[in-house]
Amino acid sequence: KNIVILLSGRGSNMEAIVRAAQAGQWPVRFSAVISNKADAKGLVFAQEHGIPTAVVPNRDYASREAFDAALREVIDGFSPDLVVLAGFMRILTAPFVEHYAGRILNIHPSLLPDFPGLDTHRRALDAGVAEHGATVHFVTAELDHGPAVAQARVPVLPGDTEESLRVRVLAQEHILYPHAIRLFLDGRLSHREKIT
Ligand code: GRF
Repeated sequence: KNIVILLSGRGSNMEAIVRAAQAGQWPVRFSAVISNKADAKGLVFAQEHGIPTAVVPNRDYASREAFDAALREVIDGFSPDLVVLAGFMRILTAPFVEHYAGRILNIHPSLLPDFPGLDTHRRALDAGVAEHGATVHFVTAELDHGPAVAQARVPVLPGDTEESLRVRVLAQEHILYPHAIRLFLDGRLSHREKIT
């Protein structure tokens, strides 16, 4: 199976996925790591691990539609069975998402449906929730609203700051995302938008 990973920054989730696949000898090939930012740190790890990288700078495109079309062409050049969004900080258009229906996953740092969007740790603290966490979900056109396939929960502790909570959640993301991808590869996750 071919996996293409999209990211915009640090890439710690990508790293956790690649390491899990190597350690578990998964029957996969990481065909490419693609970033919309040329300086994304995650690209360095990919290159050091022999994974092809590509950059599709969103700034080069006049519209979201044009960017998504270019991105799609680059991704499809690698014939992915699964597209993994790992800290990819762009909102994707409906035609793009529909093209990958059932084979595109994202990880979001909250217990969806709570706190879609940005600044999830700050908002969880402000809301005074007792538990927080991360969710892996299939990507659909509505941001952070696709069907959830796996969640990891952490407690919110007295004295927590945005940073301490972020670190606690991220550690769980690094376990959760490889786990969810493994389920997908084993054919144990599926998503169908419409039953016809
Ligand atoms: C993670 O918190 C992930 O949940 C969110 O963006 C962050 C990416 O971190 N979507 P990294 O680039 O994987 O280190």
